[in-house]
Amino acid sequence: MADVSFERDIKPLFTDDDIDHMEGFGVLLADHAWMSQPGNAKNVYEYITGEQEPRMPPGGPYWDDAKTKLLSDWIEGGYQP
Ligand code: HEM
Repeated sequence: MADVSFERDIKPLFTDDDIDHMEGFGVLLADHAWMSQPGNAKNVYEYITGEQEPRMPPGGPYWDDAKTKLLSDWIEGGYQP
């Protein structure tokens, strides 16, 4: 899928709780400049899928396939703002 936008499509997938909790760990989920660094985006993706543990958000609800695919499409689409 082309043209996945961070502001329009990805940022709204994170809850205020997700954003607030992770900011304390230096994980800036709502910040395009941080999220668009390839290593950061890859880590976020892997915590969401459980490839890295603990799977995020802790205890769930975990992202469904549609949300997870949107994130991987955004990464493959070149981290569009
Ligand atoms: C680089 C990516 C990430 C890392 C390294 C990371 C790491 C952590 C760690 C170490 C904790 C505290 C330990 C725990 O409560 O089990 C935590 C808490 C949390 N994380 Fe993440 N996380 C990442 C991404 C995310 C993402 C993408 C989400 C949401 C989709 C998320 C949502 C949360 C929430 C809501 C908490 C607080 C849980 C609570 O206090 O009840 N995190 N994260």
